[in-house]
Amino acid sequence: MAIERTFSIIKPDATARNLTGAINAIIEKAGLRIVAQKRIQMTRGQAETFYAVHKARPFFGELVDFMISGPVVVQVLQGEGAIQKYRDVMGATDPAKAAEGTIRKAHAQSIGENSVHGSDAAETAAIEIAQFFSGNEIVG
Ligand code: CMP
Repeated sequence: MAIERTFSIIKPDATARNLTGAINAIIEKAGLRIVAQKRIQMTRGQAETFYAVHKARPFFGELVDFMISGPVVVQVLQGEGAIQKYRDVMGATDPAKAAEGTIRKAHAQSIGENSVHGSDAAETAAIEIAQFFSGNEIVG
């Protein structure tokens, strides 16, 4: 399988509970390498752009408000089949449906406050990484 890069966000519910290290430990144990990482306060504009695909959804406003409610940690993860691997490691969007051993099973609080985001495909991974990182900030 090819080496891929995927984009990850450790969301405000997780940073508020000081879970960055705990989540990074799960990521690294799964064989993914954190090749870029920074803690930021997202602006409303950044969050609206990032989640533009969900603009028509009834939860869009709530989602944007949540994502700017506190610091987030944005990351680039690298590894074999990293995009699907990270989705497996995150677990289902709804923590009630997430499998044992996943980040969301261990830490997520609800569908909205679900601790992490991960890209769903190679095209979105490239777009999402480019929104938050320049090339020289990613060191594999
Ligand atoms: P994420 O992987 O970041 O991508 C879109 C996000 O929308 C998703 O995780 C959830 O946090 C959020 N989301 C999805 N469904 C709902 C919902 N029904 N109510 C609130 N937020 C939701």
